[in-house]
Amino acid sequence: MAHLLLVESWVGAMGTLLPRAIADLGVEFTFLTRRPEHYPQSLPDGSTHPLRRGRAVVTAETNEPAAAIDAARRIHSDASVDGVLTSCDYYLPTTARIAAALGLAGPTPDAVERACNKALARAAFDSYGIPGPRHATASINDRAGLRAAVDAVGFPVVVKPTDLCAGMFVRRADDWPAVEAAVGELRGFETNARGQRRDSVVLLEEYLAGPEFSVESWIQGGVIHTVGVTDKRLGGTTGFVETGHMFPASTGDVERAALTAAAEAAISAVGLDHGVVHTELRMTSAGPRIIEINPRPAGNQITELIRLVTGVDLPRVAVELALGFAPAPVAQAVGAEAPPGRPSSAAVSMLVPTRAGVIARMHGIPEVADHPAVVASTFKEPGHRTTVGVDNNSYVGSVITVSSDPAGAGPLAETLLASVSVDYVSRSAS
Ligand SMILES: Nc1ncnc2c1ncn2[C@@H]1O[C@H](COP(=O)(O)OP(=O)(O)OP(=O)(O)O)[C@@H](O)[C@H]1O
Ligand SMILES: [Mg+2]
Repeated sequence: MAHLLLVESWVGAMGTLLPRAIADLGVEFTFLTRRPEHYPQSLPDGSTHPLRRGRAVVTAETNEPAAAIDAARRIHSDASVDGVLTSCDYYLPTTARIAAALGLAGPTPDAVERACNKALARAAFDSYGIPGPRHATASINDRAGLRAAVDAVGFPVVVKPTDLCAGMFVRRADDWPAVEAAVGELRGFETNARGQRRDSVVLLEEYLAGPEFSVESWIQGGVIHTVGVTDKRLGGTTGFVETGHMFPASTGDVERAALTAAAEAAISAVGLDHGVVHTELRMTSAGPRIIEINPRPAGNQITELIRLVTGVDLPRVAVELALGFAPAPVAQAVGAEAPPGRPSSAAVSMLVPTRAGVIARMHGIPEVADHPAVVASTFKEPGHRTTVGVDNNSYVGSVITVSSDPAGAGPLAETLLASVSVDYVSRSAS
């Protein structure tokens, strides 16, 4: 039985999708983490959480690459490790370094480092002549430097951290006070959710107007296999919160080919040569422009949408690649007719709270859950404390739909979710 080392994990969807893929492949795993208590013991139905179903949970300081590599070597000498993987962005570079140290399959560590730092990625795209937004960097503590960077980019400017995810602290600023407010928020967030000290560099980018997409690919031996293009709905108070996705994106063949080519060029520019990659782009009036590149499977259930429509399970592909197996080639040409028994489109829609408060009750959930097009739905329980929807961590519910219409699942998911309403505990009662 193959043995996979799993280094930390997201707690959300990928925290169960990756262990499911590991189990489906009949692989056993050891879970390496600095804080086992960060992860739930059980699922809502009371069963053991899949992250705790491995052969062992080993504790080591994964925030220190050298300590993580030492721990991996110890585990490897106890029970030979055949592959190493993480789903959590904050541990992608360390995981690549562990794979290299143990001589296992994995992406070039420097490429992962570049992809995981939005400023380094932009520099790589520039050096390959990939067209992108005007951009500049500055220290959040250097007011004059910030002024100069903003002047170089021009308004509207997107202010974004180089080292976070889930849309955290990404803000559009139309004037200098808005830049100062965005940078001020960043100054107050010195350590990420996993206790890692943050980069004090902020990236300023030209605002790219246009609909947003993502391209899902996997790479082995430097060969890029693109599975397809997903579309993205945005909302929330920042306008940058992901509110839904549909696979396949309803685009024409020409647009799909342009998005795919742009993503593949970006993958080559950062030097990613192995693993599953999720590339985000906007289709501007001048053509596709890269937003960012992530050397891991897509989150927010996008991999489930793709699995429903094509049968390709990207978390499983990620496990196969980590173990050095050859994943099955992408069988279904994207845009081709769905194979029998499969839907032609699948979509997810997320409910973003419009205010901070405590949920008293939600209306319309049974009607959504029982709808024949709904594959899965989840909603927060009464008592859940909401935050205003400024990033992808604030959702209070989601629904996944399928449709025999290639453009049908997205609108259906949105309509169904719009029928759910939230009552909050009144302020006087709270
Ligand atoms: N230059 C830009 N122009 C327009 N919109 C942008 C730009 N940069 C980022 N955005 C918007 O902000 C969102 C979040 O930015 P980005 O993907 O870089 O951050 P993130 O925190 O890594 O997001 P996630 O982890 O959710 O993918 C993007 O999906 C996009 O909608
Ligand atoms: Mg992103």
